[in-house]
Amino acid sequence: MAAVRHIGVLTSGGDAPGMNAAIRAVVRTAIARGLEITGVVRGYTGLIAGEFRPLDAHSVSNIIQLGGTVLKTSRCQEFFEPGGRAKAAGNLADAGIDGLVVIGGDGSFQGLHLLATEHGVRAVGIPGTIDNDIYGTDFTVGFHTAVNTALESIDKIRDTSASHDRVFFIEVMGRTSGSIALVVGTAGGAEEIVIPEEPMDLERICATLEAGQRRGKESFIIVVAEGAVDGGARSVAEAVSEKLHLNYRVSILGHVQRGGSPTSHDRTLASRLGVAAVEAIDAGRSDVMVGGDGWGIGIVPLVETWQRRDPLPGTKEALTLELLRVARITGT
Ligand code: ADP
Ligand code: F6P
Repeated sequence: MAAVRHIGVLTSGGDAPGMNAAIRAVVRTAIARGLEITGVVRGYTGLIAGEFRPLDAHSVSNIIQLGGTVLKTSRCQEFFEPGGRAKAAGNLADAGIDGLVVIGGDGSFQGLHLLATEHGVRAVGIPGTIDNDIYGTDFTVGFHTAVNTALESIDKIRDTSASHDRVFFIEVMGRTSGSIALVVGTAGGAEEIVIPEEPMDLERICATLEAGQRRGKESFIIVVAEGAVDGGARSVAEAVSEKLHLNYRVSILGHVQRGGSPTSHDRTLASRLGVAAVEAIDAGRSDVMVGGDGWGIGIVPLVETWQRRDPLPGTKEALTLELLRVARITGT
């Protein structure tokens, strides 16, 4: 295989804090290796439209601290179609781009895998999503910041919850993953956490609230992952209040969790993965994702990032169970 000479970089799917730090690292690593580097604007939509922007070291100055993505992002229906991907591959070839780094979530990786296998595009992914739902990396870029943002809100809600003796059902993002809920629930001292990874136990939630009330506790925080049950926090609140007489409110934190300046953890992870992605592509790797694996960097086939949803015992599955245990002992 000929050596890579010109790399493209894009962000795709939901934006996540730290994407800019990853772009910066990709650009600067490419330049350090004597490679040409081009930004693709608006994710796969821009790839199909040929929206390319040459990048140099200066063009990524002062972005490491910024939330969002300076390359913009999108969800692109046309990329699901073979014709859309063929157009994208044609545009890359026309621009002389022979390697592509995509910063996104598992949906973006499914598209990237097809681009690599159908058109031979040399492709490497960097996990960038607040959901932390990707196999092959301990954390995704953006997760840590989103957790801290949600936690700040929960701390504030606790003030008003205590003042009014109210039960708050707080919905956090995560699509089908309970990662954000689990961590903010534990760190925010929630009395209960409802996540998609285990069936909702209405009896247990009610028993927790009643036991607390018997001890004189009058305010409670229940953190609900948006994908835990149909209808999210609202339907959990309705189900619980049908059984118990409650003074309750529902608070849906929403897109605030996607914004803001990335934490040091996300900036560092993004910088490490940006360097690793360019090094991997330059070493001839393709159809893979680079991930933060323990204290090192792991490289996994893209297909594993969404197919091996269930983490192996000893990794995140064990952590999920441990966090649930810790939250249930310390939160009640
Ligand atoms: P994320 O990458 O954050 O998981 P999405 O699931 O919305 O976000 O995916 C982002 C984009 O990736 C989609 O809008 C689409 O363009 C592309 N994509 C997702 N899944 C596929 C697929 N199965 N085949 C082709 N392209 C896909
Ligand atoms: O994947 C990131 C995410 O924020 C999910 O947590 C959430 O379910 C979804 O994107 C929201 O998507 P949109 O930005 O289209 O509302």
